Amino acid sequence: MDIEEVKERAGPREFSPADDLPEEYRKAATRMIEFHANSEIMGAYLERPFIRQAPSIDRKLAFSAKVQDEIGHGQLLYRAAETLGVKTREEMLDDLANGKGKFLNCFHYPMTEYVETPMVAFFVDGAAMRRQATLRRTSWEPYAHAMDKVCFEEGFHVKHGEDILRTLMNGSRKEQQLTQEAFEEWWPRIIQFFGPTDDKSTHHDFAASVGLKQKSNDELRQAFLDQYVPKARKYGLEIPDYPRIHKNDEGRWVVEEDDLDWDEFFTIAKNEYEPGVGQIDGRKHAQEAVQWVRDTIEADNVPAGGQPPQAAD
Ligand SMILES: [Fe+2]
Ligand SMILES: [Fe+2]
Repeated sequence: MDIEEVKERAGPREFSPADDLPEEYRKAATRMIEFHANSEIMGAYLERPFIRQAPSIDRKLAFSAKVQDEIGHGQLLYRAAETLGVKTREEMLDDLANGKGKFLNCFHYPMTEYVETPMVAFFVDGAAMRRQATLRRTSWEPYAHAMDKVCFEEGFHVKHGEDILRTLMNGSRKEQQLTQEAFEEWWPRIIQFFGPTDDKSTHHDFAASVGLKQKSNDELRQAFLDQYVPKARKYGLEIPDYPRIHKNDEGRWVVEEDDLDWDEFFTIAKNEYEPGVGQIDGRKHAQEAVQWVRDTIEADNVPAGGQPPQAAD
């Protein structure tokens, strides 16, 4: 199949490993799914410390389940990406650990306080939900299929994040104030979740023309703001003055894109944002710590029921 035929046929769940697809399509789909998989893993690592910091056993259980879900999403997506025949799961995981793999801007920022957790679990997951719902109609069938499970679980994540936000905003004045401060810090990053505005987006046109992407960055950001600006206000959060947002003639929220720090965004996109390097190093250490498990599984000379090798130290 050549690329013109791909564009003609492109539609929801149109292509599968049974199709002979051109390299251009397979590479673009791999880049997109790998980015998504990496983001699931890096998001889970960002949230993992809060399983312990969560203030009650119920919260700890919910956090633990969510973090496990996110790791599961990552693994599912690496498998969906592998079916394109461009990279193996191991290559993608190695690239992520070595700072070559790209992932979502929000997950480059360190998260240290519990009051920050709904910024990811409610707002970022809410934004992810908007994008992922459209990806159930992507043209690469294994990706769309993975999205069925991911979207189902993501619905629970958003409820979990919303419940934390509701509790904090109904808590003490101090809790309300700290949550507002966390919101002010995270709000511009959350708006940047969808990437640059369409005319600055490098990959959108091709991905849209072959059915990989169903909605543009601008459409998704618009739909997110329409839903989440009222939600933030409902819980008593004040929308920060910057970036400036206003309602247009159609009653939809519009952001002054120039108020956002796109230099920082593109530095992050290259994995060169200083605090973010710590996140990547954390992932590298985690991968090294379990290398012996991978070696054991990959070694075909381990007898059934055999003992794993001793860890190096
Ligand atoms: Fe996820
Ligand atoms: Fe999630």
